[in-house]
Amino acid sequence: MHFTPKSVMVTGGAGFIGSNFINCFMPLNPGCRVINLDALTYAGNLENLRSVDHNPDYRFIKGDICDAALVAKLLADEKVDAVVHFAAESHVDRSISGPEIFVKTNVLGTQVLLEESRKHWQSGAVADFRYLQISTDEVYGSLGETGYFTEETPLAPNSPYSASKTGADLLVRAYHETYGMPTLNTRCSNNYGPFHFPEKLIPLLISNIINRKALPVYGDGLNVRDWLHVRDHAIAVETVLKGGKSGGVYNIGGNNEWKNIDIVHLVCDLMDESLGRKKGESRGLIAFVKDRPGHDRRYAIDAAKLKRDLGWEPSYTFESGIRETIDWYLANQEWVAHVTSGEYQQYYETQYGESK
Ligand code: NAD
Ligand code: DAU
Repeated sequence: MHFTPKSVMVTGGAGFIGSNFINCFMPLNPGCRVINLDALTYAGNLENLRSVDHNPDYRFIKGDICDAALVAKLLADEKVDAVVHFAAESHVDRSISGPEIFVKTNVLGTQVLLEESRKHWQSGAVADFRYLQISTDEVYGSLGETGYFTEETPLAPNSPYSASKTGADLLVRAYHETYGMPTLNTRCSNNYGPFHFPEKLIPLLISNIINRKALPVYGDGLNVRDWLHVRDHAIAVETVLKGGKSGGVYNIGGNNEWKNIDIVHLVCDLMDESLGRKKGESRGLIAFVKDRPGHDRRYAIDAAKLKRDLGWEPSYTFESGIRETIDWYLANQEWVAHVTSGEYQQYYETQYGESK
């Protein structure tokens, strides 16, 4: 059944994927309200949302998804009929050095959102309602040389990050099975594109190449990731929100597997071209370093269900997407500088003041 949301609460909308989602969704859905609830952790940056900042249908709330009273009030005040839950601690390396916040935000935060959504939905305040959980292919664990993750692949997370995302997915499943709540769950592969925080592989490579810093490659560099442009992910999320079957799980991916070392070589070569450096110069910055503990060897998503049931396909080729991403970083060095220095965190006060 097709669902047309009128008031969407987006959590984590100041992060990499959440902000790209809002920037894509709002122009495509004029008149639909978007309430962005984000705690503005180190990963949340309101500078990502300049294109919607002054749209009267957009409202930003600085707040924590673990704050049940705040979540309940927003759901009621804004007559929210869809929750799209991106907010999370998202970086695997950080989960290895400090897992606690991952459990708090990703598991407990999801439980708060589910519980307040359940009460709001059961109160009958809105005619129709959807809760969409944004998850990751990492919940499936690691693949060998062959095969793909389907929606039926058993969950077998290996890092504290992926374990916390799996816990959240299981709660979503439980709310659907127990209360009949209209939930949706997407599991996407690695994203790349604009506004990607430079702790993640691709933006880290771009920044370090610009600054002639070492390019750390974990282990033997032969781990495989399946890359998708973030705007293709955003459109897939919109597609699932509007057309997904209640209780459904949908994999999202672009059938675009790369060994890490091949990505590193590609980015080095494209950057040499863009910066007018000698061919091969940036490859000289590559430094093999100690492996990530529990480093998953290979991810590869089978997104056939999403194509078959809802007609979604990626629109970017990797060739065009990665060039566009490099161009974006080169044209937005001020954004990178703000993110790297922490200066972006002042943007909230200057734009919104303390009171909003
Ligand atoms: P991100 O780290 O860039 O952004 C996370 C956002 O959540 C930030 O704006 C942060 O301020 C906010 N946040 C964190 N804790 C919060 C809290 N307690 N309350 C409110 N807001 C809070 O993450 P991302 O890469 O944009 O990932 C978004 C979602 O997509 C996550 O759920 C992640 O697991 C999932 N995902 C990411 C990828 C990827 O490649 N980045 C791939 C698949 C799935
Ligand atoms: O697969 C989806 C996941 O992709 C999301 O759920 C996560 O939120 C997101 O962070 C991402 O996780 P990864 O661990 O795959 O992304 P990251 O960019 O950290 O690393 C990509 C690969 O590159 C991985 O195999 C580790 C490796 N790597 C990473 C960094 C930061 C390096 O070799 N060197 C590095 O410096």
